[in-house]
Amino acid sequence: MLKLDKICVSFRSERQDKLFGHTKQQVLFDVSAEVKKGTCLGVLGESGSGKSTMGRVLCGLLKPDSGTVLLNGVSVYGSKEGRRKLQNQLSIVFQDYTTSANPRFRVADILKEGLSVRQRREKETLDQEEEISRLLELVGLPSGFADRFPHELSGGQLQRVCIARAVACNPELILFDEAISSLDAHTQVQIMDLLLELKEKLGLTYIFITHDLTSITYLCDDVLFLYQGRVTEYLSVKHLNETKDTYAKKLLESIVVFDTEEAS
Ligand SMILES: Nc1ncnc2c1ncn2[C@@H]1O[C@H](COP(=O)(O)OP(=O)(O)OP(=O)(O)O)[C@@H](O)[C@H]1O
Ligand SMILES: [Mg+2]
Repeated sequence: MLKLDKICVSFRSERQDKLFGHTKQQVLFDVSAEVKKGTCLGVLGESGSGKSTMGRVLCGLLKPDSGTVLLNGVSVYGSKEGRRKLQNQLSIVFQDYTTSANPRFRVADILKEGLSVRQRREKETLDQEEEISRLLELVGLPSGFADRFPHELSGGQLQRVCIARAVACNPELILFDEAISSLDAHTQVQIMDLLLELKEKLGLTYIFITHDLTSITYLCDDVLFLYQGRVTEYLSVKHLNETKDTYAKKLLESIVVFDTEEAS
């Protein structure tokens, strides 16, 4: 569905070099990956490894220096049309649900933001009240929550609202950038269960950015390890145990105890 091929990205660094003026800092080096329809691709890496930058390239928000992004075979950055096509099919959910939801908006208004995108795109008239109840039910919230303000919800509930807003525009693809990282462990599992359920029900495709391997094993089909802007490992979650990558191994060892030869 979505394919990245040899993506390179660099930013102008603030430091000025006396000889060459502004220097460039390369953040992504030849990153290639594929997001297959109906699956979840996990992107894992430590802070600063380039995950969000890769996410922005994937969503059509940041044009890479070189490399291509293909959506069903059409180049996303090759034409305005390509970028528009991608943006029509994609929603994003960020980590910081407190700032991504306007504090002065009621839940109903937050959801209307998503619905109006869909109305504009599909040129259909929706019964907004009915849609809002349907969306709240879909993410496991009572319809009475429509009149609440963000500060009247818990973190997990507010993130459910943000997920409902992301789903409201009928996307095919959702990018989650550290979307569950600031929730407690129990709520994280609840939200991940919700994401799995929605993926099945609505036939969605996910890209899940995180620094937490446990959530990758719970949610994803494939996983890509980024280390200092380079892909160090890219494999199916089923084969995670067979990884040769030292960084991946280190992370794995922190969650499971390996039955190594030395140990036996
Ligand atoms: N707009 C920008 N201008 C300059 N440098 C940037 C910009 N965006 C990101 N960077 C740099 O690119 C590198 C990768 O950043 P990125 O946000 O992609 O990391 P990340 O893996 O998402 O980290 P985190 O887990 O902390 O969110 C960092 O060194 C960052 O400082
Ligand atoms: Mg990030």
